[in-house]
Amino acid sequence: LEAQAPAQIAAADSADALTAARNALVGRQAGALTALMNALGELPKDDRREAGARANKLKVALEEALDLRRAQLAAQAASSGPSLDLSMPARERWQGTVHPVSLVIDEVVEIFRELGFTIALGPEAEQSWYNFGSLNFPPDHPAMDMHDTLYLAQDQLLRTHTSPVQVRTLQQYAPPIRILAPGNVYRRDFFDPSHAPMFAQIEGLVVDEGVSFADLKATLSHFARRYFGAQTKTRFRPSFFPFTEPSAEMDVQCGVCGGSGCGVCKHSGWVEILGSGMVHPAVLENSGLDSEKYTGWAFGMGPARTAISRHGIPDIRILYDSDVRFLDQFGK
Ligand code: PHE
Repeated sequence: LEAQAPAQIAAADSADALTAARNALVGRQAGALTALMNALGELPKDDRREAGARANKLKVALEEALDLRRAQLAAQAASSGPSLDLSMPARERWQGTVHPVSLVIDEVVEIFRELGFTIALGPEAEQSWYNFGSLNFPPDHPAMDMHDTLYLAQDQLLRTHTSPVQVRTLQQYAPPIRILAPGNVYRRDFFDPSHAPMFAQIEGLVVDEGVSFADLKATLSHFARRYFGAQTKTRFRPSFFPFTEPSAEMDVQCGVCGGSGCGVCKHSGWVEILGSGMVHPAVLENSGLDSEKYTGWAFGMGPARTAISRHGIPDIRILYDSDVRFLDQFGK
């Protein structure tokens, strides 16, 4: 036993194997040394003392050897855990992007901020008076029809444009006023490549003494050159809105989206950017202002349309899809 036990302990290559070796050597039930010590009584009295001392010494030595081996195995287990590859590249961190429509809004806001415009907001759930009545819509105007407008109650609707923010702002603040009102609007349309039931608009409003149509043209042309490039040509076409008189739509010459190849420009060579006009005196009066004293102009644009012509997007529905493969290309 003295000769064999140390090798037996050293050969134990796991915690379980070591426990087995311990039981086989010094275990109470089946230990070889235990059996030997129990047998000491059978020896002749003269031999017993010496044999007992020798057995005790062996017992201490075995316990020490077992403890040492246990520490060795524990150290081995600790150092050979799951391996750590320090050269492995870190997992790329996923980063969101600004939505292309939000990018247009941010840029438009920034350009008008340079001209002294501030931001105004209004509710999306709006009273029909603010959405229509105050804006000089006649009571039988087709836009007010249930087929075009999403009503919440008889006099409550989802605003169909951001123009009600004009009246809310004029009621709340005294001129001079220069505001931009970005926000979502709702119309009773089904999704198709060029329509959506909800989309963003940006409203602009200037009211002061002596504001003229020349201010409107100069400011909106300046905006077009800042947004689309210094060479951008604009044209104003007569139009009609109940809340502006006269009214005009502003087009910019194609090239904004890389020339004739883009779907929006291919027919006329011009693309419509916004609707605008001089604020109708009735709107000023409905807002509590003296229309003899004050004049103003306003515009409304759809940033989704701008994003579409800028990037040559063939179907607006992709702007609503939250498809990261599409969205990831913008606003990094
Ligand atoms: N509210 C109009 C629309 O939704 C746009 C507009 C705003 C026109 C302000 C003139 C002045 O089409």
